[in-house]
Amino acid sequence: MFYIPEINSTNDYLKELLRSQKLEEGTIVRTDFQTAGKGQVGNNWESERGKNLLFSTVLYPDFVEISYSFILSKMVSVAIVDTLLAENIENISIKWPNDIYIGDKKLAGILIENSLSGNNITQCIIGIGLNLNQEQFACAPNPVSLKQITGKEYRIEDFLSSLKENIFARYQAMIESDEASINTDYFKYLYRKKGFHQYRANDEFFEAKIKTVLPTGQLVLETRVGEVKRFYFKEIEFI
Ligand code: BTN
Repeated sequence: MFYIPEINSTNDYLKELLRSQKLEEGTIVRTDFQTAGKGQVGNNWESERGKNLLFSTVLYPDFVEISYSFILSKMVSVAIVDTLLAENIENISIKWPNDIYIGDKKLAGILIENSLSGNNITQCIIGIGLNLNQEQFACAPNPVSLKQITGKEYRIEDFLSSLKENIFARYQAMIESDEASINTDYFKYLYRKKGFHQYRANDEFFEAKIKTVLPTGQLVLETRVGEVKRFYFKEIEFI
């Protein structure tokens, strides 16, 4: 475990370390503050110094083919849900593809960066930002922290050790080819899995319901007139 009080990004730092040395699966880099915290698709990740959980870990899932890499997103998402359930948090959901929501607000984000050899994943950097104790946010869209929900102060290290155990337990299921338990729980907690909701794609608004999420990670929606459409991340916006 590497604890560095301030760094650019735990994902980038861990990737850099791995260029020059071998690290055990599950090695963690944690920080209190990122100067260039990365979100998905080039966004930045806002987090007040010392308030939240910011870390990255590395796995070597070389048994996973790149076209099925979405299983890693699902595995990490359900491990975060497991950890929150143990804290008795309610209204938890996973907003496709892998945002962790409480009610209609975002509690945590996951940034996965894979390295490949042929068709398989040789190295998977999993970066997690989870809002624990921050009480005010400047520019993150729609954020929430656990403290804002429960009023309690959380110990970052304790939360991390419980999350780390849950990630390993779910990863073990993957290793044992028990993807079914991960898929079942991913769908169980999927945000907006029931009923029709508003979406936008290609500047067009429409109502649709979630039919499924494919192993490739594509979201499958069915419109009011029964048209079935598939979307990759960023091709579709939840309204
Ligand atoms: C998202 O946009 O939802 C993903 C956010 C991921 C943020 C975490 S914080 C720790 C790790 N290091 C980074 O630079 N990003 C991830």
